[in-house]
Amino acid sequence: MMSPLTPTTSLIEPFGLEIDLETGSMPGATNHLVRRASDMCGYYADDEALDALIADGDPLHYEVFERPVPEEDGHLMFCVSVLQPGRVGDECFMTKGHYHTKANTAETYLCLRGEGYMAMKANDGSWRAERMVRGRMVYVPPYWAHRSINTAGEPLVSHCVYPADAGHNYGDIASQGFPKRVYVRDGQEAIE
Ligand SMILES: [Fe+2]
Repeated sequence: MMSPLTPTTSLIEPFGLEIDLETGSMPGATNHLVRRASDMCGYYADDEALDALIADGDPLHYEVFERPVPEEDGHLMFCVSVLQPGRVGDECFMTKGHYHTKANTAETYLCLRGEGYMAMKANDGSWRAERMVRGRMVYVPPYWAHRSINTAGEPLVSHCVYPADAGHNYGDIASQGFPKRVYVRDGQEAIE
């Protein structure tokens, strides 16, 4: 009979690395995903406002830093995400959002800096927004699509952990969107 300690997933060495809790930079990261305004076409309500931003220097929207591990059952992927402050029209900067390809996988987000929301959407149309603020953790259950939204004037920095074989399904959100958007008008938040 096989011992429960017989590896069925890639065996790797333990490691540790630093995360700057203010900036979110992770010097040991070897993957660096960068999304600019021009990567966000079709995601915001006001296409013209996004086009204007792209023409005006195509500002950074968000970055994800990863130190990848094998994308296999049993491993945990972790990352730091840094979402810049800003508006497209009145709509707050946000990430694209995704379901997981292996949809029955959860994710945790621990907010390290800034303020905003983790917006979540289930396939039956349910929608939730959990407040993100330094020291607050959000649990994204299996089957819920998720996106970060920055409502403040500084970067929204969060640390996430999820099963390494979860994968990212962006396509369904790109075509369906989320039921609600977050705006800031005259300093007041509006979710509609
Ligand atoms: Fe995720």
